[in-house]
Amino acid sequence: MFDLTRIERCGLVARIDYHETIGSTSDRAMELGAVDEGSLPLLVLAERQTAGRGRGTNRWWSDEGALTFSLVLEAPRERLPPGRWPQVALVAGVAVCEALQSLAPRAELRVKWPNDVYLGDGKICGILCESIPGWQERIVVGIGVNVNNRVQGSGFREGDREQGTGGMRQPLVAASLIEHDGVPRELTGVLVGVLDELDRRWRELLEGSFEEVAAAYRQRCLLTGKIVKIEQAGVSPIVGVCRGIDGFGRLRVQTERAEEAIVSGAVVSWEDGTRSVPAT
Ligand code: BTN
Repeated sequence: MFDLTRIERCGLVARIDYHETIGSTSDRAMELGAVDEGSLPLLVLAERQTAGRGRGTNRWWSDEGALTFSLVLEAPRERLPPGRWPQVALVAGVAVCEALQSLAPRAELRVKWPNDVYLGDGKICGILCESIPGWQERIVVGIGVNVNNRVQGSGFREGDREQGTGGMRQPLVAASLIEHDGVPRELTGVLVGVLDELDRRWRELLEGSFEEVAAAYRQRCLLTGKIVKIEQAGVSPIVGVCRGIDGFGRLRVQTERAEEAIVSGAVVSWEDGTRSVPAT
């Protein structure tokens, strides 16, 4: 059970739409964000999701004890033009990563571009950033964190698929805080920690400074120095050595031919960059 009074006091929350059980907090946030005239940010929060969505066609499984919520955020055009919206994904990823680090100081937490959060080898948090059709100034950020739910041995929970093809296949692995250190956590405290960190980074972004977020992101980047494989719709996969992110949040990848700046796409596999860049 969440302490809604405490959550309401967070800087990033003007209103809460709370549900014991819901299909998807992001579906609900998209619906409300499209018609609602109330104050923003709006937090859609649920104890349980029965039809959580991940990126693309993936599903997001969240058992009891997971944290699942979505925010409808206002992004004034003059402060955050749509061309910079991809940066929101990185802001959310680094904010969750830093919030979880405060809760689990000994955990090795990293962000996999653009915004999956990893604890060691396992994905502990997935984030879905979506624009609302017809709205130029509203963004929905959906966040799922494995907190008190057990995920080991469950295979992967995103769509029951393996990532990657060819010589760099990578089975997806999940992680949770309880499996990291055995400590059950109060979900309200975890949520407030994430919201406070997100509030801080969101303000930085709206004030026009992506550089501070980028610096924090670089310290947390899982892929820097690794050989990565990136799949993009309609084009051949890109394989190369990841050089981290640039000042716009794009992923820099050194291929056999050139350094590319990736704006969108899925990093389907990665491995230590100790061998030469394989051909695609
Ligand atoms: C991904 O890793 O593919 C993104 C997963 C996002 C899951 C969260 S859980 C809360 C919110 N509601 C959803 O249906 N999805 C997001």
